[in-house]
Amino acid sequence: MAKLWGGRFSKSTDEAVDAFNASIGFDKRLYREDIRGSMAHAAMLARQGIISENDAAAIMRGLQEILAEIEAGKFEFSAELEDIHMNIEAALTKKIGAAGERLHTARSRNDQVALDTHMYAKKIVAELGELLLKLEEALLFTAGQHTDTVMPGYTHLQRAQPITFAHHLLAYFNMLQRDFRRLMGVWQGADIMPLGAGALAGTTFPIDRFFVAEELNFGQVYGNSLDAVSDRDYIIEFMSFASLLMLHLSRLSEEVCLWSSQEFGYIELDDAFATGSSMMPQKKNPDIAELVRGKSGRVFGHLLGLLTTVKGLPLAYNKDLQEDKEGFFDTVDTLRFTLTVYRDMLLTLKVKKETMAEAVSKDFSNATDLADYLVRKGLPFREAHRAVGQCVAYAIENGKYLPQLTLAEYKNFSPLFEKDLLECLAPVRCVEARRCYGGPAPEETAKQLRLGTEALAAQREQLELLKAKL
Ligand code: ARG
Repeated sequence: MAKLWGGRFSKSTDEAVDAFNASIGFDKRLYREDIRGSMAHAAMLARQGIISENDAAAIMRGLQEILAEIEAGKFEFSAELEDIHMNIEAALTKKIGAAGERLHTARSRNDQVALDTHMYAKKIVAELGELLLKLEEALLFTAGQHTDTVMPGYTHLQRAQPITFAHHLLAYFNMLQRDFRRLMGVWQGADIMPLGAGALAGTTFPIDRFFVAEELNFGQVYGNSLDAVSDRDYIIEFMSFASLLMLHLSRLSEEVCLWSSQEFGYIELDDAFATGSSMMPQKKNPDIAELVRGKSGRVFGHLLGLLTTVKGLPLAYNKDLQEDKEGFFDTVDTLRFTLTVYRDMLLTLKVKKETMAEAVSKDFSNATDLADYLVRKGLPFREAHRAVGQCVAYAIENGKYLPQLTLAEYKNFSPLFEKDLLECLAPVRCVEARRCYGGPAPEETAKQLRLGTEALAAQREQLELLKAKL
């Protein structure tokens, strides 16, 4: 098949080169953006008198047909035609003749592919924003059920201070809220229109880039043609967002694995969201959580891959940039899948309140509260810390926990201890006493749940605004 750019060549390309060079295998997923972009370009060319209205009408008709054929699975993609742009253009010319050959006036594949991926990125922001909001909602909902489910809080994976399951989940809710904010930032980066940059230096034709931007709902237009075709920062921003989101979910996944182990026993995954072993009949494995943890590595890899691809490229376009797509698309697919299953896994898991309560009654996570008790009686914190440290050592030696020591035993460590010390030791009290802003006390959690609900509503509104601009 003759290449669309074959004029100066006297031989056809080597077969292996065709296969190596082709991106159609993966960039065909840009067909909608490519066709929509071409339509806007054709409309602009006609409006500016660069092509005739008749040619533009033929182009529109042809592109509509091609769109329908692709959607119906009837379009034959060819690797010899390299990429989605040339596959569609060749099919158009086959359909409508010379008018099809005029479509590429004042355009290069360099600005065309940039346009397609900007449009695709915007679409993906809207789609993933929706899924992210749903996951945030699930976290908020599950947290709302557990404002008084007391569990151990950890530092260094050692029991530290009692918290609630709601408080723990709300930590992730907060992280995901920031991820959503970053996703909105990705939109900003993608909402700049590159078409008209040509191969690198614009065009001699009297094009109207702002018209194209308006047709395609772009907020801005690239102000430098070299920049428009050579940067991929909007994809890197997306991958950075994706990496942080996956990092957050990977940490939660690690906890889901721990919590569902026999050692912790804090949760039980629903049967529909766990898997068994082919050999060990008793097994119930947290594969979803493990996979999310595992897939985070793959997403980070794509980010680093693209950073590395772009970092040494002289301006403007270089074919290396074709390598932006597979990692980008794979990141999109991974996130889509992750956000969907994660939400359902969360909403169906069983929280074993009693095991958590039992855990927190058999540890020393109330020791800080006892030190605070002494501070309230007038002791400087460091001294109180020392006295309680001695109480803990004594209790361990005698095989007891703090509530089981007698007042007489306590008095050996500080005369300030009185009978009322027991009140501050109950894990529920420890939690209730942490009423500071952002603390785990149920009343503070209720406030944070309210604020969270409001924030979600604001995010939802923000997302609807974007969706209207697709
Ligand atoms: N398939 C190419 C890409 O993804 C399109 C642009 C090709 N431009 C070129 N001059 N070879 O980057």
